[in-house]
Amino acid sequence: MSYRSTLLGCGKYAPKRVMTNDEIALAVDTSDEWIFTRTGIRRRHIAAPEETTTSLAIEAARDALASASINGGEIDLTIVATSTPDYGFPASACLVQDAVGAHGGAFDLEAACSGFVYALALADSMIRIGSVRNALIIGSELYSRVLNWQDRSTCILFGDGAGAVVLSRAAQPGPLPRFTLGSDGSGGPLLTMYNGGVPEPSNATPGGVRMNGPETFKFGVRILVDVTEQVLRDEGLSTCDVDWLVPHQANQRIITAATKRLGFADERVLSNIEEYGNTSAASIPLALAECVERGEVLPGHRVLTVGFGAGLTWAGGLLTWRT
Ligand code: COA
Repeated sequence: MSYRSTLLGCGKYAPKRVMTNDEIALAVDTSDEWIFTRTGIRRRHIAAPEETTTSLAIEAARDALASASINGGEIDLTIVATSTPDYGFPASACLVQDAVGAHGGAFDLEAACSGFVYALALADSMIRIGSVRNALIIGSELYSRVLNWQDRSTCILFGDGAGAVVLSRAAQPGPLPRFTLGSDGSGGPLLTMYNGGVPEPSNATPGGVRMNGPETFKFGVRILVDVTEQVLRDEGLSTCDVDWLVPHQANQRIITAATKRLGFADERVLSNIEEYGNTSAASIPLALAECVERGEVLPGHRVLTVGFGAGLTWAGGLLTWRT
């Protein structure tokens, strides 16, 4: 017997404190105009000192449970996709599981900005084989504590936040979700975050995130196109069959260039990068949750999520909303 999964609920949490581009320009040599023109970002949210990746995840998880109208006790798998966990261990997912009263397995998954879609794929396969009924999948990140705030090429890009979905066994027949995952470790040096596991190069600038911006940009455009086309091809669908494309929010110019090439209508492409910047594994569920909150995602809608980032990694997932 094989089961089918569907998205049942979606939630989000963004820290209250907002940091504008003008505020960053007080500390490093940049401007609101430069940042907005090159990235589409105007603001990002920054966690308060007492907030953590886990506390952000718990808020988003509670919001997703309320949206799905189920309680934590009905969850039997919890995954937190994050590159900025509170601890090496315990996993943030275990702390979230305890906070919401969930059961079953709980673990963190690290695949950088692709992590959320990787986690969806894993949860879907466990639902398919019948070992999980309701999975709580969260992307949560706290980049503000790992960035080098003196490095204008990276500190302007990232923000803090969390998004979550409940993925559940569907009661009715319907289309199966479709996933594709990929990675290419030869591109690892393009985007790195040191955490002490290897000696830092002696000529490195201090701070967490280092990036080859232009090469990462080209990768982003190419992979967003390729992954979208592959998922559509595998399902025998065209862009018109997708109600919402939810791309990773890395740079508005990446999203615009790729979706223009794909022929997606702007109004079906979710983007909130102006408000949040790049929240890595949280960016896709955060964008989806805002669309759900506006009442625009309707039962039966097809949602195509595409993540890409460090690793290099990429992942596409085509799912349905409440079918
Ligand atoms: N403000 C002003 N000038 C800046 C700047 C900033 N914040 N950051 C870089 N610059 C300068 C550079 O020093 C360089 O100056 P130079 O020409 O005098 O050497 C110039 O702007 C161009 O730098 P470059 O890195 O080529 O700019 P870019 O147009 O590629 O834009 C990014 C930089 C980071 C915005 C862009 O490369 C990008 O978004 N890349 C993808 C990032 C991404 O998506 N990462 C996450 C993937 S999951």
